[in-house]
Amino acid sequence: MNSKVSVIGLGYVGLSTAVCFASRRIKTIGVEVNKEKLSTIRSGIVPFHERGLDEMLRQTLDDGTFDCTDDISKAVRNTEITIIAVGTPSRPDGGIELDFVREACAQVALAMKAKRRNHIVVIKSTVVPGTTEEMIKRELESRSGMKAVRDFGLAVNPEFLREGTAVYDTFHPDALILGCSDGRTLSTLKKLFQKFYGKLPVTIETTPTNAELIKYSVNTFRAVQLSFINTLANLASALPNSEVGEVIRGLATITKLDNRYLRPGPGFGGSCLPKDTRAMIAHMRNKGVDPDILESALKINMKQSKVIVNTAESLLKTLKGRKIAVLGLSFKGNTDDIRESPSLNIVRELLLRGAAVSAYDPAAGENAKNILGDSISLSNDAKDCLHEADCCIIATEWTEFSKLKPEDFASIMKEPVIVDARRIFDPEKFGKGGVIYRRIGTSIE
Ligand SMILES: NC(=O)c1ccc[n+]([C@@H]2O[C@H](COP(=O)([O-])OP(=O)(O)OC[C@H]3O[C@@H](n4cnc5c(N)ncnc54)[C@H](O)[C@@H]3O)[C@@H](O)[C@H]2O)c1
Repeated sequence: MNSKVSVIGLGYVGLSTAVCFASRRIKTIGVEVNKEKLSTIRSGIVPFHERGLDEMLRQTLDDGTFDCTDDISKAVRNTEITIIAVGTPSRPDGGIELDFVREACAQVALAMKAKRRNHIVVIKSTVVPGTTEEMIKRELESRSGMKAVRDFGLAVNPEFLREGTAVYDTFHPDALILGCSDGRTLSTLKKLFQKFYGKLPVTIETTPTNAELIKYSVNTFRAVQLSFINTLANLASALPNSEVGEVIRGLATITKLDNRYLRPGPGFGGSCLPKDTRAMIAHMRNKGVDPDILESALKINMKQSKVIVNTAESLLKTLKGRKIAVLGLSFKGNTDDIRESPSLNIVRELLLRGAAVSAYDPAAGENAKNILGDSISLSNDAKDCLHEADCCIIATEWTEFSKLKPEDFASIMKEPVIVDARRIFDPEKFGKGGVIYRRIGTSIE
């Protein structure tokens, strides 16, 4: 079996992609510059929380379908296709930092020059529309002395996996987006993905720029959708006899919208939606296009964590000197990622208003502690976190929290007041169990 694919950058996207490819017996070499991360991965441990990935990593390392290194040149030399999955973090002006992509491309180009055989470079990192045809192509051509299309293929294959379900999403995408420089590249990539999926998912064959724009259109549309539904949920909470869940059912049925992104909550976070929306706003401004709709989505999102804290404050009259238990610190369930987590905004707002905060998260506690330091007390389990608390805020939808019963809150807390920012409990049960229960999007009886 010849090595086929190299993946540059073994973060959430790169490692999930590389290991999933290897698990389908496509020999894959991962490249990671961070030595500590690399040695963790080499020892069979996934350096972040992602269900099912550890087992697949160990399996693919054992059977030799996956290997990892810090040597890009070797990885490119021994493969035919290189997927670039390095980070593209936000800059202070909202635009994205392309230094990691530029550096990775420069190294890949030098390796291609030495290899002197046809190679395909696939951009999986999220880059603003136009980046591949302008900056990346130029970088690859100038460093390698080769010409795109004639000497190497270039493609954009944006990633849509969601942390927490990365393995499932990698095997079951809604669509495969292939933005290729030429027909030969497209046909090679289709063969690769055919081998990977068995049967190709719905495939959109397009230009590199359109592929980049599709990625941003999806994420910014989701950002708008989430801010829209949070606004509706806030209104439903203030109306008599209203339940936003039923409104969503009607809305999703009639408009055929994806209801995964019609979930009211404390605001969206993570490494993608806020960053991609900011990047699109900055990019649109650069191109002289008005980004009003996206700016509103972000503004609403910034306010949403305050809506949750306001609910707690109005129930307790004041937050000063009160102990608030925050369940969940990651930006959503099933991940340890705290990047732009709304839970952290909730914690900061609580502290600002004079509350003492105890917090618990099944996976993200340590990551959050690194950011929040000693300003909060971190608990080892949910019940410990609730001890003597005046109010509990459900900030992340971890399954283990949904197993808690009203009696648990009533027996452990000082005041059994619950603000459910993720709508994980049944109001029928929690309305009766000796607790004061409020959930976003449901009217107060
Ligand atoms: N995390 C997600 O859910 C998600 C989903 C879809 C798309 N994306 C996009 O995918 C890209 C990667 O995201 P991520 O969350 O995996 O990032 P990450 O920061 O978790 O991982 C990036 C990795 O690349 C490594 N790296 C940087 N430069 C390198 C180089 N020259 N050679 C080798 N390794 C290098 C870093 O050390 C890091 O481990 C971003 O553009 C992001 O916007 C992320």
